[in-house]
Amino acid sequence: MVDVVLGLQWGDEGKGKIVDVLTPKYDVVARFQGGPNAGHSLEFGGNKYVLNTIPSGIFHEHCINIIGNGVVVDPVQLKKEIEKASATGVNIKKSLYISEKAHVILPTHRLVDAASEAHKGEHKVGSTLRGISPAYQDKIGRSGMRIGDLLSAGFMQKYQGTVAIHRKLLDSLNYEYNLADHEAAFFEAVEFLKQFKIINSEYFINDLISKGKKVLAEGAQGTLLDIDFGSYPFVTSSNTITGGACSGLGIAPQKIEKVFGIFKAYATRVGNGPFPSEQDNATGEKIRTLGHEFGATTGRPRRTGWLDLPTLRYAIMLNGVSDLICTKSDVLSGFEEVLVCDAYKINGQLSKEIPFNMQDGILEPQYKTFKGWDGNLSVMRQYSELPETFRNYMDFVQGEIGVPINVISVGPDREETIIR
Ligand code: GDP
Ligand code: IMO
Ligand code: MG
Repeated sequence: MVDVVLGLQWGDEGKGKIVDVLTPKYDVVARFQGGPNAGHSLEFGGNKYVLNTIPSGIFHEHCINIIGNGVVVDPVQLKKEIEKASATGVNIKKSLYISEKAHVILPTHRLVDAASEAHKGEHKVGSTLRGISPAYQDKIGRSGMRIGDLLSAGFMQKYQGTVAIHRKLLDSLNYEYNLADHEAAFFEAVEFLKQFKIINSEYFINDLISKGKKVLAEGAQGTLLDIDFGSYPFVTSSNTITGGACSGLGIAPQKIEKVFGIFKAYATRVGNGPFPSEQDNATGEKIRTLGHEFGATTGRPRRTGWLDLPTLRYAIMLNGVSDLICTKSDVLSGFEEVLVCDAYKINGQLSKEIPFNMQDGILEPQYKTFKGWDGNLSVMRQYSELPETFRNYMDFVQGEIGVPINVISVGPDREETIIR
């Protein structure tokens, strides 16, 4: 069977850490969407690792790691990642499998991403500039190139045709660029990738499932960045919800058993777009500093705010979350008060639902205030050791959303985890 791990907020909930913690129970970890816009951090043995495209099961020797068909792969980024992981002693050739149907991010996709963001000016999405949206646009527009195409004789011709269209687009946006430098690295990376296992991953994964192997599907980004249900247009270009695991790996819905939904004890967002419970003030700054809230991929400071229950309920509904995982509660230690947005006031009416446009500025978050907690939570390993005020906070959240919080992460390290 297949279990799914995904983020319930705007990304960076701690998916990488949690996948790494859960991997010993699984035979396979498979990424199902997104690309190198993701930055998944793992910490163990005093070292920190950031993965962008490689699944977060890679540091466990027994584990098969699959980059699914729903992922967009930048050969240049993936080469860098493989080299970094290999330097730590991981045998990537043995444990990494790449779907032949995953789409390729070309150098011109990155340029088009930058050009269209520049063109949007102050209305820009604040993308990671990794070429994600242009690559998915070509996929949906039926003109994309797939990993399997890299191996075919017609590769160069197809590449040139696609690039010619991108060049026209770049010219129309008056974007200046020098493609030659990027292309050299791209072709080198394409050759490099040919030594890895490029496979039909839907047969491979279903075969493993039928043999009783346990699969953990790893999501990227978060539910509020989902292309359909996120705060459109300030979203990413893929389905980040549980449904994305089916289309992004080729597994049937009945195969999915547990859905682990991760949320931070507060909220963050990187990039533009609505964030009702944002604290653009000293409190937000304190959360950012204590939580080291800077993007794992771009280094950008993350916007910070309080936990938002209407969006959390929405995310749980969309994903069919069976188990909740709360991360970063240790960061709030020392706060006198911790607030939770419980509902919104929209045009004078209380609502617990997400309106069509979250960005209209008519949405006033309604807060409940909780007494904060103290002490170093990162050394605690039993739920009963956690401060009573924190447990009250968790009880409230759990009561409001009706799904058990089964794991509490109290620090970035593998070991800093409490399983109830
Ligand atoms: P992901 O994209 O969901 O994998 O999350 P990121 O890796 O981008 O961001 C999460 C950050 O928080 C990383 O720096 C993690 O090492 C760190 N982290 C994860 N869980 C915890 C936790 O429970 N407490 C603290 N203090 N840090 C955590
Ligand atoms: P992980 O997997 C946080 C955000 C970008 C931007 C929007 C669109 O680490 O949680 P894109 O480059 O996808 O076109 O950018 O989505 N974004 C993320 N924010 N975590 C991520 O991934 C993100 N991936 C994209 O900041 O607002
Ligand atoms: Mg991240």
